[in-house]
Amino acid sequence: KKVAIGVDIGGTNTAIGVVDAEGNVMVKDNISTPSHGDIDRYIADLSAAIKELIKSVKLLNEDIEFLGIGIGAPNGNYYSGTIEYAPNLSFRGMVPFVELLTKHFPDMNAVALTNDANAAALGEMIYGGAKGMKNFVMFTLGTGVGSGIVVNGDLVYGHDGFAGECGHTTLIPNGRLCGCSALGHLEAYCSAPGMKRTAFELMAHYNANDSLLADKSFKELSSKMIFDAAEKGDKIALEVFEKTGAWLGQGLADTVHHLSPEAVFLFGGPTAAGEYIFKPTKESMERHLLPIFKNKIKILPSKLKPGDAAIVGASALVWKELEK
Ligand code: BGC
Ligand code: NA
Repeated sequence: KKVAIGVDIGGTNTAIGVVDAEGNVMVKDNISTPSHGDIDRYIADLSAAIKELIKSVKLLNEDIEFLGIGIGAPNGNYYSGTIEYAPNLSFRGMVPFVELLTKHFPDMNAVALTNDANAAALGEMIYGGAKGMKNFVMFTLGTGVGSGIVVNGDLVYGHDGFAGECGHTTLIPNGRLCGCSALGHLEAYCSAPGMKRTAFELMAHYNANDSLLADKSFKELSSKMIFDAAEKGDKIALEVFEKTGAWLGQGLADTVHHLSPEAVFLFGGPTAAGEYIFKPTKESMERHLLPIFKNKIKILPSKLKPGDAAIVGASALVWKELEK
């Protein structure tokens, strides 16, 4: 049996999975993504974790063949195998990630990297809810906001390989400071930290000491807590979802106008809140759409297990590489 390894580098966590040709995640592990930019140390930790997973799978079945490693990373470039100037990672400048990792795995047939949201789009396209769709967009909501664009059945890379940075479209002129240091980008509003910021702004605005979120520090607060509070009827939490959805829907409408997709998929922690986030997003998108698009574009949750789309999609990169 042949398998591939998928790695999803997130702002705080790196998920690793061994994935078979049908997209089943056989085993998974997690390491933390460093908050200080020691890249060599991180590559060493990641390699060790991958080697442990390989060992554990081989214990179960010696005949398993590991074909390669696929990686999804913020600001990852498929053409060069580099991670470049990522606003939400601690690595500075341009990191030759594929080259560094390959040193630890000289026998692998393929080591390939792409943008993390592209990886999620690939996972959805090959194994998830976008099977058979030729035109769709994947939006990932996490530490950052990413997107993977599929047009005519293929991921769009663009001239330099960085196409699809929809999280860095300007939503509010001169608005909040984005991690990339520009002002007013969608990511500053609709990422998990953006939602936390909205919660804090609303609590200050209403002087809402009675909110279930009021005793949390910025660091403690999570999108999961906002969801839990919304379920208990907390007014601040409910408004956080209303506002986040309104902003996200506006951004999605722009993307729809650019690309005319069949569907937009949403992936990542905040989407666990289900209708709390999907309903206001859909309403806002519809308000901003041209009549030619109205009531036609689906907004769908990722069909893969929570968190799996990017790992599975990254592993799919390996198969794609070997087909070439
Ligand atoms: C980065 C993207 C990435 C997204 C999600 C953004 O800040 O610019 O490349 O896909 O975060 O991690
Ligand atoms: Na992308």
